[in-house]
Amino acid sequence: MRNSYKEIDLIELEVLYENLKSKGFSLDLTRGKPHEDQLDLSRSLNDPLDSFLYQGKDVRNYGELLGLSGCREIGSQLLDFPADNIVAGNNSSLLLMHQLLSFFYIDGGEETPWNKKDRVSFLCPSPGYDRHFRLCEEFSINMIPVSLTGIGPDIGSIKKVLEKDESIEGIWCVPRHSNPTGDIYSDEITLQLLDLAKKHNFKIFWDNAYSAHDFEESLNTPNIFQLSKNIQAEDHVIAFASTSKITYAGGGVGFVGMSSRNLDRFRPFYASTIISPDKVNQLRHINFFEKIDLKTHMASHANLIRPKFDLVEKVLSLQPYGEWTKPSGGYFVSYSSAPGLAREIVNLAKEAGLKLTSAGATYPYGIDSEDSNIRIAPTACNMEELESALEILVVCICLANLRKN
Ligand SMILES: Cc1ncc(COP(=O)(O)O)c(C=O)c1O
Repeated sequence: MRNSYKEIDLIELEVLYENLKSKGFSLDLTRGKPHEDQLDLSRSLNDPLDSFLYQGKDVRNYGELLGLSGCREIGSQLLDFPADNIVAGNNSSLLLMHQLLSFFYIDGGEETPWNKKDRVSFLCPSPGYDRHFRLCEEFSINMIPVSLTGIGPDIGSIKKVLEKDESIEGIWCVPRHSNPTGDIYSDEITLQLLDLAKKHNFKIFWDNAYSAHDFEESLNTPNIFQLSKNIQAEDHVIAFASTSKITYAGGGVGFVGMSSRNLDRFRPFYASTIISPDKVNQLRHINFFEKIDLKTHMASHANLIRPKFDLVEKVLSLQPYGEWTKPSGGYFVSYSSAPGLAREIVNLAKEAGLKLTSAGATYPYGIDSEDSNIRIAPTACNMEELESALEILVVCICLANLRKN
């Protein structure tokens, strides 16, 4: 890798690019996946259980629909909701999101089910998490992008939408280390959101997937449960988390938190979808977190992840184009190119053997009207692979810019 790409001319760059292409790389910065060394931090999850009994009951059998109490405590720690308001489910928070959307769509509790409404829309802070948008598409939920400010969505533009659109039923929020922008929601924005949710009767889907994923110990995320209680808006919040990026991705425990009233309504619907969660896995997690506290465990993750984010920052700084985030936690860096270049950069990278998240994927319907956002997920590579991937990335960024001029 060169010391700088700031003065490089187009001819030199084309040579560099061809040279990189000829190396036959196969690198991937697409998905926020933990690297093997992070997964190894949770090895003791595999220790055989001393007993299958938990509070006198055999975890191998049906029962405990809402999850083992000790596991609901783990969810409570992640979501800042009382354990009684938490469901500890199976291995995925996305599945719980799907189950909640299905509940509001088909059943609705005491409210009109969404499938009886002409139109259902969600506010989608963007760039955002592609799978939230995919869920909306599955449910034919109309998506309205709203911009992010660094401390949460732009409340002014949300107000404008709400004034003229009565079909808003929800908003997706990733309140801490947002995927991909790294936003950490402020108390003030959270309160304003709660206020609007109450006034316009919509739900805040509070996906706190990265609540414990700080590089350094830093600001707290607003305690939305407490804030919502203060203004009697607790029925407007549904909160999600999982241990996917704490223990095993796809082998952890998913959680959903909600008001007691919502939980009473949701429970029978949930009971139609499962008889019991995987409590053997829940017990493994309870035992695991009895031996190591969450903060210490997450500090070990941070020690493995932080150098990767430092490397992204260092290498992107070697070139003069675009803007990017410097997150204080989470799994992503959000890069913004000059308008009209993201697709080109992603295509150039692909030809040189580097897969990036498709341009546009971070926007509803895959449409980034500026064609500018690229999500960088550096965790899955080792440091050596990451360095090669970033070299390709900066060469492609420079090439796309210089070819344009
Ligand atoms: C914001 C966000 N929510 C949820 C998930 C997926 O969580 P789970 O594995 O619990 O379904 C991810 C994974 O990347 C994510 O970034």
